Amino acid sequence: MNPLRIGNLNVKLPIIQGGMGVAISLSGLASAVANAGGIGVISAVAIGMTEPDYMKNYKEANKRALRKEIRKARSLTNGVLGVNLMVAVNDYEALFTVALEEKIDVIILGAGLPLKMPQYLLEKGFDQTHTKIIPKVSSAKAAKVIFSYWAKNFNHIPDAVVVEGPKAGGHLGFKKSDLINNDISLETLVEETVEVLKSFEKEFDKEVPVIAGGGIYEGKDIYNILKKGAKGVKMGSRFVTTNECDASLEFKKTYLNCKEEDITLINSPVGLPGRAIRNNFVDQINEGQTKPFKCYWKCLKSCDSKNVPYCIAQALHNAAQGNMAEGFAFAGSDAYKATKITSVSDTILDLRLDYYRAKYFEYLKNFIGENFKPVKFNVPSLLEGMLRPQIV
Ligand SMILES: Cc1cc2nc3c(=O)[nH]c(=O)nc-3n(C[C@H](O)[C@H](O)[C@H](O)COP(=O)(O)O)c2cc1C
Repeated sequence: MNPLRIGNLNVKLPIIQGGMGVAISLSGLASAVANAGGIGVISAVAIGMTEPDYMKNYKEANKRALRKEIRKARSLTNGVLGVNLMVAVNDYEALFTVALEEKIDVIILGAGLPLKMPQYLLEKGFDQTHTKIIPKVSSAKAAKVIFSYWAKNFNHIPDAVVVEGPKAGGHLGFKKSDLINNDISLETLVEETVEVLKSFEKEFDKEVPVIAGGGIYEGKDIYNILKKGAKGVKMGSRFVTTNECDASLEFKKTYLNCKEEDITLINSPVGLPGRAIRNNFVDQINEGQTKPFKCYWKCLKSCDSKNVPYCIAQALHNAAQGNMAEGFAFAGSDAYKATKITSVSDTILDLRLDYYRAKYFEYLKNFIGENFKPVKFNVPSLLEGMLRPQIV
């Protein structure tokens, strides 16, 4: 696997762990992924819910908790760390500023078009900050809108872009009908985005790596999407079932116990569909039941808090803590593939072995032809024997 280069930032492995809220990816998971050679990402969304005074001082609690988690992660690794921010939250600018002040290596901006930049960044200047800024999009068209806007207004373009396809976990930037009809493929999205970015790369004389996310679960998925022009992958669900993931054991067990058909779509109060694992809570909200709640502050710009059937931040935080009766687990469409809880380093090793297996199978298949039968020659274990010492 080639390293991932984002400007002057070199990442040993082209793997970004997706930021997962609420309180699923904090310093524990992020530092473990960074130590294993990828980019470990802390999710900032409603992160203050982990603080005792969130209900009274929500904005301060969010800022404090984010700063604390970044510093804690930094104390656990010298690797590359990121923060995931949702453009759709009301304290987006404040959290963005905290991440910049803490000199985080990477900021990924999802759930909305990042057209507004914090004053702190505008005053300092993009080229003066250490931090790489990476929008997450669901189409080449959205990438074009962002890059055109930044070029015109900031005379600067983002450092990379994440393209997230329809199989991802969490909120999805697609219409529910597109998701149900299975009309869109990540491969096509990657190819289209790579194409759209070419003119911006030329104009600004800057390489902009495209990173693919959504349904990347095994090493062969990484191999196949890198062939389409992606320079890295973003993976969320695969890292949930690790010891280091910051969620409760009950949360992780929902992944181990679910079947493919349990992974379903919900309507989120964010105004987007979301992918989650079916449980009683999900069935009830999908049937139209409401879950009365007290809104302490309007954390999401688009949330009509008096009329939405439930509070998504509360439901996700309950689930992260193991209270599955009053919440649910977001999950990508491949989450059912999890069979055990393991360490991040073993997960990464497994991904690398499977990546090389896919690569060498393809070589052999091209060389020997369609009659190539890898299992007959037990090529997997042969390859593993050869690769493991090199990788470890
Ligand atoms: C449990 C869970 C929580 C997530 N929370 C967030 C979030 O807070 N913000 C965000 O931008 N993406 C979120 N995501 C999306 C991930 O960052 C990542 O892009 C996605 O999981 C990739 O798809 P995969 O799960 O198929 O690997 C979440 C995904 C999961 C599974």
